[in-house]
Amino acid sequence: MTIGQITYLGWWWFRAKFFGRKAPLQSVVFVSDRCNLSCKHCTVYNHKNPLTKTYEQVKADLEYCYSLGSRFVDFEGGEPTLWQDGDKTIDDLCDLAHELGFFSCTITTNAQKSFKGSHADSIWVSMDGVGEYHDKVRGKGTFERLEKNIKESGHKAVSVNMAVNTLNADGVEEAIRYAAENPYIDKISINFHTPFPGSEALALPWEKRQEIIDMVIRYKKQHYPIMNTVTGLKHMRDLKFRKVCWMTNYVHTDGTRTPECPGSLFEGVCEKCGFCMAGEERAVVDLAPDTIMAGLNLRVKK
Ligand SMILES: C[S@@+](CC[C@H](N)C(=O)[O-])C[C@H]1O[C@@H](n2cnc3c(N)ncnc32)[C@H](O)[C@@H]1O
Ligand code: SF4
Repeated sequence: MTIGQITYLGWWWFRAKFFGRKAPLQSVVFVSDRCNLSCKHCTVYNHKNPLTKTYEQVKADLEYCYSLGSRFVDFEGGEPTLWQDGDKTIDDLCDLAHELGFFSCTITTNAQKSFKGSHADSIWVSMDGVGEYHDKVRGKGTFERLEKNIKESGHKAVSVNMAVNTLNADGVEEAIRYAAENPYIDKISINFHTPFPGSEALALPWEKRQEIIDMVIRYKKQHYPIMNTVTGLKHMRDLKFRKVCWMTNYVHTDGTRTPECPGSLFEGVCEKCGFCMAGEERAVVDLAPDTIMAGLNLRVKK
């Protein structure tokens, strides 16, 4: 990270903390809702009538996010590695984000397609457990392809992200150990199922979720490569903290723009939020040392 970028972050924090300025620092830009999987926990994919943005539409989205003050972008879908407009691919979108001045560009992928040579600064691979646990959520053979594509990617910053639900809750410990032992994986991030309408049945009972968070904290304290911070995990344990979800704005596939996570649009979803970023964002505003270090570590180019 450059001195200019660190100064920008300090300035952003100062204005948020002392002047109550609610400007996003990162953006989630959905590029398409087309997907090559039908995961059991997902309510985003659209197989019937998939929408894909053009390069110019994504450019307008990025310019808008940048104008709000955002400096980190994550491309999401659907499956972002499937995105294409003529001969342009997701790599051209990452290049564009860099050209426009974003400090870093991330993609979140199911890793069913190769991402070798990806232009993203870091890659989040969604891994919902090891082997059978993952396949139970995402379909037979998906773990094998994920493992192969991670290994062959050659990318220096690949982390995995697990969404814990009733199907894979017993596989969290194994997933943490697997991530620690796999030389091609940097870190694992643990999230919990967020009950968007239609997927409520997959949410964990609250006591089970707390039990898992306590276990993750124990592993974290033993220095396993877990992206979540202890401060953030403790926030997610009871969800009683004041949320600062405006730190991330969203631009959806249909072009609609929301100043925060769309969870707030559905009654009761935020009360059962499983996106651990919510706890981490609170910790950033509170300047929790473990979260600041983790954030910088994530953003520093390797
Ligand atoms: C919607 S997917 C899109 C990107 C890509 N197709 C993938 O699977 O990584 C983005 C992330 O959201 C997670 N996700 C989807 N539905 C969720 C839910 N209801 N609660 C928590 N995480 C969820 C997925 O597991 C994935 O890690
Ligand atoms: S791969 Fe991603 S977008 Fe596709 S169905 Fe699974 S979670 Fe949803």
